Amino acid sequence: MSRILILPGDGIGPEITAEARKVLDCLVRDGGLELELDEALVGGAAVDAQGDPLPASTLQAAHDADAVLLAAVGAPRYDTPDRALRPETGLLRLRKGLGLYANLRPATLMPGMAHASSLKPEKLEGLDLLIVRELTGGLYFGEPRALAEHDGRRRGVNTMVYDEDEISRIAHSAFQAAQLRSRRVCSVDKANVLEVSELWRTVVGEIAQEYPDVELSHLYVDNAAMQLVAEPTQFDVMVTGNLFGDILSDIAAQLTGSIGLLPSASLNEKRQGLYEPVHGSAPDLAGTGQANPLAMILSVGMMLRYSLQQADAADAVEGAVRDVLEQGLRTADLADGGEAVGTVQMGDAVIDALKGRLGS
Ligand code: IPM
Ligand code: MG
Repeated sequence: MSRILILPGDGIGPEITAEARKVLDCLVRDGGLELELDEALVGGAAVDAQGDPLPASTLQAAHDADAVLLAAVGAPRYDTPDRALRPETGLLRLRKGLGLYANLRPATLMPGMAHASSLKPEKLEGLDLLIVRELTGGLYFGEPRALAEHDGRRRGVNTMVYDEDEISRIAHSAFQAAQLRSRRVCSVDKANVLEVSELWRTVVGEIAQEYPDVELSHLYVDNAAMQLVAEPTQFDVMVTGNLFGDILSDIAAQLTGSIGLLPSASLNEKRQGLYEPVHGSAPDLAGTGQANPLAMILSVGMMLRYSLQQADAADAVEGAVRDVLEQGLRTADLADGGEAVGTVQMGDAVIDALKGRLGS
């Protein structure tokens, strides 16, 4: 029995969560999986109900689960100067609280999507890259950090810091991921300027010795950003720190033509994971029934693969999403002004395709 904690969060979160739940129910009913589903509050929804974007009860439930499925957090009405009450703070505390240091962000071209990219379709042939982003260290969490006064002027301070063990464990994640793919890792840093990057490059190089079957290269982050939009198919796995990974993964998402199709996984040492779509809570779309549930459903696929060791079920879910795209079904974000289906219709189509793949 695997325990899954579901966190619908804000904006379109609850709507896309409902479709992911249908997929999980189908896997239990027709796929023979044993899952126990629980639900809790996070983000603005948790601020409204309990005055805290990550209530202690939610963090405890996350600790107790094998995997956490999160939709999205945030909406303009929750923007406040009090950082502790922002929905994003709930997400960051959840990442840190569970020790989810390895963030896997695949960017794959799905059927029929090349035209939606801002790059020429021929640049995207075979695009299949995985960004492995360090998620619990670096500039996001480094101390000291402050908004302060200094010599009568306002000063903002953050610190980019990595200890060698933080670098080596994310390097292991990247090399191991590459062993299941095309066996190439590109490490991204700013070693020409930053000491923290100099250490990063050294440690990644040391860990590489343990993976002689994987080819390692290094790029400075500015060049990496340029290469990503110039020749994106040269990459297999890219490994990088928290801030650089935040930026590069948005570029990679745009390459695929739809951020509405990208899932992500964040794993800790116990392979507990947090699974979430790369897209945000899209508050403008909330309640319209038009949100795209596919990235959320693909996040279920990643959860099956990485935390629940259910590769066949993961293949079935990912296959079902490909099936509906090949059938030509599009939510509004993918439809390019053409005919679009709503959130629930898209979810139902995935269930039909999934049942076919599960042989029921
Ligand atoms: C992401 C987001 C978050 C981040 C924000 C919402 C805190 O941009 O998951 O990439 O910067 O990590
Ligand atoms: Mg980001």
